[in-house]
Amino acid sequence: MKLFIDTANPKEVARWMETGLLDGVTTNPSLLHKEGGDPVKVIKKICSIVKKGDVSVEVTEKDPKKVYTQAKKIAKLAKNVVVKIPCHPDYFSVIKKLVDEKNNLNITLVFSLTQAMMLCKLGVKYISPFVGRLDDIDTDGLELVGNIRHMIDEYVFLNTKVLAASIRHVRHLHAAILLGADVATVPAAVLEKAALHPLTDRGMEKFLADFKKLKVKRFP
Ligand code: E4P
Repeated sequence: MKLFIDTANPKEVARWMETGLLDGVTTNPSLLHKEGGDPVKVIKKICSIVKKGDVSVEVTEKDPKKVYTQAKKIAKLAKNVVVKIPCHPDYFSVIKKLVDEKNNLNITLVFSLTQAMMLCKLGVKYISPFVGRLDDIDTDGLELVGNIRHMIDEYVFLNTKVLAASIRHVRHLHAAILLGADVATVPAAVLEKAALHPLTDRGMEKFLADFKKLKVKRFP
């Protein structure tokens, strides 16, 4: 399973790259806005930190022709850039053309199994079901991840990976692992929480305290 960080903050990317756990990064226009500054500089910085891992960068145009032109420009920002395009029928022919031209795409804002099936047929690299945003409207976002996994395996869509996005809690990550998501993109705060357990902390304290009682000067 691959783990991406969901951020446009280069410091968070660097901190988690150091751990050896990260396989890539997802950004979006809202995350770039939160980060501030020149988005091109921010993206290039992140791509240089990640080196080989995929860094998703979303188009910001609306008109399909402009989306195509912008996607080609985004793809040239760095070798490891994956272009994010919203899952909308207006863009299907653009997506097909970009896939035929060997561009790596991450289709974002996927909210249904039928949308996911269509994008698998177009051969995109990733489809991103938004777990948290479905939960926000009282729909089971995790169920969609499981259904997409089943669909990809059943119909052998070999080119497309399920990227569980809009992960808001450790519970979402836990379920994405069990459901067989190929990738989960996780905010830094959730990654921190997912790595911790109170019993680990308590156990560490107890082991260190007990060892101190031995009063040995050197070990080993
Ligand atoms: C990542 O690709 C998505 O843009 C991101 O996970 C969306 O998360 P949100 O629904 O918490 O904004």
